[in-house]
Amino acid sequence: MASTHLFSPITLRDTMFRNRLWVSPMCQYSADKRDGVPTDWHLVHLGALARGGAGVVITEATAVVPEGRISPEDLGLWNDTQRDALARIVRVIHSHGAGAAIQLAHAGRKASTYKPWSSKRNTVPAAEGGWPTVAPSAIAFGEMAEPQALTVDGIREVVEAFRLATRRAVAAGFDAVEVHAAHGYLVHEFLSPLSNQRTDEYGGSAENRARLLLEIVRAMRAEADCLPLFVRFSATDWAEGGLTPEEVSTFARWAGAAGADLIDVSTGGLTSGAQIPLSPGYQVTFAEQLRRETRLPTSAVGLITEAEQAERILADGEADVILMGRELLRDPHFPLRAAAQLGETLSYAPRQYERAPFAEVLT
Ligand code: FNR
Repeated sequence: MASTHLFSPITLRDTMFRNRLWVSPMCQYSADKRDGVPTDWHLVHLGALARGGAGVVITEATAVVPEGRISPEDLGLWNDTQRDALARIVRVIHSHGAGAAIQLAHAGRKASTYKPWSSKRNTVPAAEGGWPTVAPSAIAFGEMAEPQALTVDGIREVVEAFRLATRRAVAAGFDAVEVHAAHGYLVHEFLSPLSNQRTDEYGGSAENRARLLLEIVRAMRAEADCLPLFVRFSATDWAEGGLTPEEVSTFARWAGAAGADLIDVSTGGLTSGAQIPLSPGYQVTFAEQLRRETRLPTSAVGLITEAEQAERILADGEADVILMGRELLRDPHFPLRAAAQLGETLSYAPRQYERAPFAEVLT
């Protein structure tokens, strides 16, 4: 039996995950040939994170349609070749005892951009493999190209694409699916009044702005059967006139009623140049608020880098799960190290590595 909160199992819907220290979704911009198919990079990267002791490995934002990719090198799940390549990765994650979740996404007006280490910025032109982008309204993000406002038929196609991607994710063996409704991508663009100025049933009131999200959640719930479903929100736009935690809390409650099992609480990404007060655990307060107001299981993410810090967030009831990003890039074995630091013995620590005990490294 685990003596810490961090290494206690958690059950969501019918699935038990071995602990509460999970890998946050992180784009790798490493799909080959611009076909959205994962490569050996993804296999080794995600496999190492599973071997390192995380409870769940959430794949990077995986686009449900080609035009929904952030960059031409993003993963996709709109065909069976992608599904089968992801299934191989799921098998590796499972072989290390971790759960496998996939974040399904559409990048909206922030699609068709360069990978971060490119010397170029903003929208990739068609000549370099870019494409026209779509959004709720024809309002550009920063200096990026102006998107086309989606028609109602176009919106229906997006919902259908999330449904079909979920079907493929289930077939690939994933244990959970997440909707990316944060960071200024398409679903978030519908939620926020700063990017959604529609006058039809998908714009205006909170109910209308949340309509796309809820249609996606219901479609995914129907396909995912008994698998847990997560929704990643930006709890604030950090911008005048944008989303506030109070409104996002309402959206999260509606998402829960539509079938979501966990609210993944991030912030920002909707506007360029927003001032974000970064500090350790700076988004935890939003997770705590959404957890309290929705009574749904909640995850906290953002500058959580220490075992004690993660344990305290759970012990204080601010979140049910900790997601970590960059610290796990620095050290994919962070969970094994954290367990040793907190005095936990993990049955799943790899025997092959036991001559290099993680506890000794700390003393
Ligand atoms: C990210 N992040 C991110 N978020 C998301 O929802 N989907 C994604 O695909 C990505 N991609 C991504 C790539 C890279 C390289 C980084 C560093 C980050 C955000 C990430 O999941 C996390 O929320 C933030 O990094 C904050 O957590 P940390 O890194 O402070 O633990």
